[in-house]
Amino acid sequence: MNQTVQLLKALAEPTRLRIVALCRAGGDLAVSEFVRILGQSQPRVSRHLKLLTEAGALARIPEGSWVFYRIDDSGPAAAIVAALIDNIPADDITFQRDRERLAAVKRERADAADAFFSANAKEWSNIRRLHIDQKEVNACLTRLVGDQPMGAFLDIGTGTGDMLSLFADRIERGEGIDQSRDMLAVARSTLENDGLTHCRVRQGDLYSLPYDGAEFDTVLIHQVLHYVDDVAGAIAEAARVLAPGGRLLIADFAPHEVEDLRKTYQHRRLGFADFEFDAALTDAGLTLDGIEHLTGDPLTVVVWSAVKPGISARRTA
Ligand SMILES: C[S@@+](CC[C@H](N)C(=O)[O-])C[C@H]1O[C@@H](n2cnc3c(N)ncnc32)[C@H](O)[C@@H]1O
Repeated sequence: MNQTVQLLKALAEPTRLRIVALCRAGGDLAVSEFVRILGQSQPRVSRHLKLLTEAGALARIPEGSWVFYRIDDSGPAAAIVAALIDNIPADDITFQRDRERLAAVKRERADAADAFFSANAKEWSNIRRLHIDQKEVNACLTRLVGDQPMGAFLDIGTGTGDMLSLFADRIERGEGIDQSRDMLAVARSTLENDGLTHCRVRQGDLYSLPYDGAEFDTVLIHQVLHYVDDVAGAIAEAARVLAPGGRLLIADFAPHEVEDLRKTYQHRRLGFADFEFDAALTDAGLTLDGIEHLTGDPLTVVVWSAVKPGISARRTA
């Protein structure tokens, strides 16, 4: 009961109510965005955010030097906040103005993401031209996932979030992790524009994923491992968050000799042999159950599929 009283006390203040209403309407918002929308000083806004976080109303997501806030859906707050906000008249002038400012902030964010993507689009398409049509890779991944429900989905090194979009209509919830804030800005914008509210992205390192337990039914590492130093470490960490009965998919290149990818695109590894992940998968407690080759020129894409023994509680629930 104490927790609920603390939550209600925290919400019983106009600015804090405006903050949770904004989070409910706008997804993940950064401190600087609240400052702009609310027209209040940063220390004041930060104090309100701290109180709301301590009361369990908001979840705090640090991302480098930024911090994002969203409604905390791990406790009772989400339902209580929803009930409160839904009872505020739609024509309330303060809330209406906040929503207009939120829309302007989102538009700016989308424009910035667009600019980033335009600047990098050439690079992406240049790489894609070296291997087979991405549609074929997507079809292969979809085939390997099979007809089973995909449950909770984690896309490691999500980049611009394409893989979240690909599987969005088959998953209960999706999370994308990436270390690049610029890539995540593009992903956020796409997910928001497409209304994929069950998918989220956050900044994180694939060697220390921000999850405590084995909570994902499907984990994907798509075109990421050729950048990393410690492939076994990355696989072990992916396996750690995979639920019993869950599936890990890795898509990357077969061994190749396009040395220029190192210089121009920062690739560390020039592809992987079929057997290259065997030991790492076994050590991580996974069983390899399929390898597919999608032959391209000069780059062949390979998809490895592995399962964690056990039966997923979510799937049988
Ligand atoms: C070639 S992109 C692939 C993006 C996405 N998976 C796709 O296929 O469209 C590789 C991504 O891996 C991310 N990445 C590389 N090393 C990482 C690390 N240690 N932790 C998290 N993300 C990482 C990069 O920021 C980049 O967005």
